[in-house]
Amino acid sequence: MGDDAGDSNRLKQADAASYDATATDFDYLTDRYSTGIASRILAVVKVEQSDRLLDLGTGTGLLARLAAERGANVVGIDHSEGMLDRARLKAKLATFQVMDAEALQFEDGSFDVAATLYVLRHLPNPRAACRELHRILRPGGKLVAAVGARPTPFSASAVASGIGALSDRLFAAVGRRALSPEFLRRFLDRQGVPSSRGHAAHHGNEDVSGMLAAVGFKNIRREWWGERFQLTPEEFWDVQAVFDSEARERLTALPDAEAEKLKRKFVSECKVLADRGASLVYRTGAIIYSAER
Ligand SMILES: C[S@@+](CC[C@H](N)C(=O)[O-])C[C@H]1O[C@@H](n2cnc3c(N)ncnc32)[C@H](O)[C@@H]1O
Repeated sequence: MGDDAGDSNRLKQADAASYDATATDFDYLTDRYSTGIASRILAVVKVEQSDRLLDLGTGTGLLARLAAERGANVVGIDHSEGMLDRARLKAKLATFQVMDAEALQFEDGSFDVAATLYVLRHLPNPRAACRELHRILRPGGKLVAAVGARPTPFSASAVASGIGALSDRLFAAVGRRALSPEFLRRFLDRQGVPSSRGHAAHHGNEDVSGMLAAVGFKNIRREWWGERFQLTPEEFWDVQAVFDSEARERLTALPDAEAEKLKRKFVSECKVLADRGASLVYRTGAIIYSAER
């Protein structure tokens, strides 16, 4: 195995291990904060009764479960056993398999729809995954892929959320608002928690439209999705410690007792802020790409 392939496998194993350790919390949080976007994804792709649908990087199976409830025949794949254990408990109508998103073990043209939520940025080689998604879809099959992102510049949603983002920043600068994911990352820096090596795997700025076109997808469209939640101190810790890959990898590398101590300290600092009238804000945003094979 070459060095690049070895590095890529190590990054994948670190990513899977960080999810194994947080699957129960992830499950609760994804239901609470990602049901909106998962429902929108299925509306964008107009999933139909008995469509054969692949959920790539299904995690604890949120999207798979919603698609199966709409009558689709769903297979969810993920490389984390821990996440799939949770998925199997809840989504009885779907089936789940451990698999690498970059090397799918399905026949060419075997799905009508492929969907993926918050996964492409976790992959060392997202283009390989896009190529695989193109291969496993039948001609005319539909793809929908959501990746975490700020709004598209100059779109109506960018203007609307730009105003929100600007006021968030102004209030944050005077200590009246704490924003995820920066707030926990800075707290971990102050506490001397080492930065994560695995996080290098996250390809923040990869041009997804370009990748989809390069592997042969047609009619590529995009829309932006965003939501904003005001949280309690405990929720504010949970959402960042679990959803933010950088924070999650840094925390799972620590002994449990140390992570627990940091959580108590963080929550008590946030309580002081909240008592002074500050709000704790979790903003979530994604670009939803849709395309045809
Ligand atoms: C942010 S989670 C999203 C989970 C789910 N789609 C959701 O939104 O609730 C990313 C998921 O991608 C999975 N993943 C990361 N790299 C993978 C790979 N190479 N192959 C398969 N799954 C992978 C992780 O295990 C994790 O479950």
